[in-house]
Amino acid sequence: MVVLGIVTGSTRPGRVGGQVSRWARQQAALVPGLDTQLLDLAEIALPMLDEEAHPSERLYTQEHTRRWSAQIDALDAVLLVTPEYNYSFPAPLKNALDFLSHEWQRKPVAMVGYGMTSSGTRAVAALAPVVAALRMPNVGAVYLPVRRRVDADGAFGSTQDDDEALRALLGEVVEMAQALRPTRLLAS
Ligand SMILES: Cc1cc2nc3c(=O)[nH]c(=O)nc-3n(C[C@H](O)[C@H](O)[C@H](O)COP(=O)(O)O)c2cc1C
Repeated sequence: MVVLGIVTGSTRPGRVGGQVSRWARQQAALVPGLDTQLLDLAEIALPMLDEEAHPSERLYTQEHTRRWSAQIDALDAVLLVTPEYNYSFPAPLKNALDFLSHEWQRKPVAMVGYGMTSSGTRAVAALAPVVAALRMPNVGAVYLPVRRRVDADGAFGSTQDDDEALRALLGEVVEMAQALRPTRLLAS
C-alpha cells in the first residue's frame, strides 16, 4: 500500500479547503493501492518556524516539530490541497513545508489547486519551485474553479470530470511512489 498524506493548506474559519480535502480522500479511496491520512494544518497548528537548526540536521527541539516529522515520515506520497491567495499559496502551507527536509524527499507530490479567478493555477505554479527544493517529484495537479464548485450555502460539489482527473492523477502518484520507495530506503 502507498500511504498518501492529504495536506489541507488553508486554515481560515469558513474555508472551503476541508471539504476539498474530504472529496480528495473519497476519490483516493477508489484508487487501488492507496491508503490516506488527512493532515489538516488548521488542526496541526504549527507555530511559525521556531527551530534554530536547519531542518536537514533534524535537531528538533520542539515537540510539535517531532510530531510533524513523524507524520510526514510515515507517508509515501503527498497531496497538497491548496487555495490561491494573492497569486500564491497560503503562508501556513509554506511554513509547514519549511519545518522539515529529509521527511519530504523522494516522495511524489500532487496538488489540488482551487481559486476564484484562476482555479488555483498560480498557487500550484508557486509551489513548484518549493517542492523541487525539497526534492519531491511533482506528478501534476487538478484545478477547481471555486465559483462553479461551491453553492450559495458554501457546499462544495465536484463534477465527474474533476473526479476522474483526480483519480487518474492519484493513479500516477501510486506508480511513482512504488518506484521511488526503494530509493528512499537507500537514502535513509
Ligand atoms: C487572502 C485571500 C487571497 C485570495 N487571493 C486570490 C487570488 O489571488 N486568486 C484567486 O483566484 N482567488 C483568490 N482568493 C479566493 C480564494 O482562492 C477562494 O476564496 C478559496 O475558496 C479560498 O480557499 P479556502 O476557502 O480554503 O480558504 C483569495 C482569498 C483569500 C482569503
